[in-house]
Amino acid sequence: MYVLGIETSCDETGVAIYHPEQGLVSHFLYSQTDMHSEYGGVVPELASRDHIRKLAPLIKQTLHDSQLANNEIGGIAYTAGPGLMGALLVGAATARSLAWAWQIPAIAVHHLEGHLLAPMLEDQPPTFPFVALLISGGHTMLVRVDGIGHYQLLGESLDDAAGEAFDKTAKLLGLGYPGGPKLAELAEHGRPTAFTFPRPMTDRPGLDFSFSGLKTFALNTFNASAQTEQDKADIAAAFQTAVTETLTIKCRRALQQTGLHSLVAAGGVSANHSIRNALTEMAAREKTDIYFPRLPFCTDNGAMIAYAGCQRLLAGQHQDLRIFARPRWPMVELSGCG
Ligand code: KG4
Ligand code: ZN
Repeated sequence: MYVLGIETSCDETGVAIYHPEQGLVSHFLYSQTDMHSEYGGVVPELASRDHIRKLAPLIKQTLHDSQLANNEIGGIAYTAGPGLMGALLVGAATARSLAWAWQIPAIAVHHLEGHLLAPMLEDQPPTFPFVALLISGGHTMLVRVDGIGHYQLLGESLDDAAGEAFDKTAKLLGLGYPGGPKLAELAEHGRPTAFTFPRPMTDRPGLDFSFSGLKTFALNTFNASAQTEQDKADIAAAFQTAVTETLTIKCRRALQQTGLHSLVAAGGVSANHSIRNALTEMAAREKTDIYFPRLPFCTDNGAMIAYAGCQRLLAGQHQDLRIFARPRWPMVELSGCG
């Protein structure tokens, strides 16, 4: 079964086609970052309008690229949440209408389940059970994954998500939007030990995170410094190291707590090289297998939605004719699949 996947939860329009035996057949992504960068962050109304403009042409382009006819598509998967309501509605309404017109099932996919399963698109995918570190712009979570839909929350951020902390710190350093990759780039030129940042919540037991203090620490450090370009780079490097070490300490703790030897890191922030390297080194020390999505599938994309939707459709799950969009949707509410 060929499954068309549609992602429109935030500022990226993603479309892909996945087949259980053939794998990923085709995928395209249109990023709105240039449009939002003028405003220093995502403007929800502009995001929705742009999805409306871009989604239908992108679906046509993906179908054309796959050389598949409309009637060869067996199901449509769309991101139903969490995300921006207007943006979600564009994908959900389009997906639901197309599925009705083509008389095929549609499945509402949880955006974070999509991220979590993105490493399944690689040649050597993880096998269940594993610990997953989900680090995106809106969420930071450690989850025990026993199968698709079988998620146990081990810990989460009590305030800012990791990506949000990157973006806010980048903004105060004057780096613009999207901040995460820009801060990471600047950190390359900085000295991680020039300033000592805290490693929040690592000195007490538990697997929860708190990143909002790091952003304030960065602001205070910036105000107290000479504010030279080198200071900025040093703050970026010290901040990135603090986030990296905090995530690594908590992941090691989660592995020890669960007794598992398999770790997945996914979501936009998992594209960060410092974090990938530190987690890989820790995993080697802990005799743990580690899995990341390829870089383009760390951030939002249609491929992960097509994959996750395909698994659920194969298990016989699908939605009724309602257009399903849930801006807030706890992942632990998901039902199991197989
Ligand atoms: O998963 P994602 O594309 O969207 C959400 O579901 O939120 O994640 C976007 C987040 C943003 O906060 C962005 O700044 C961050 O991922 N990000 C990075 C890097 N690439 C993207 N953060 C740090 N280093 C990067 N290389
Ligand atoms: Zn995302």
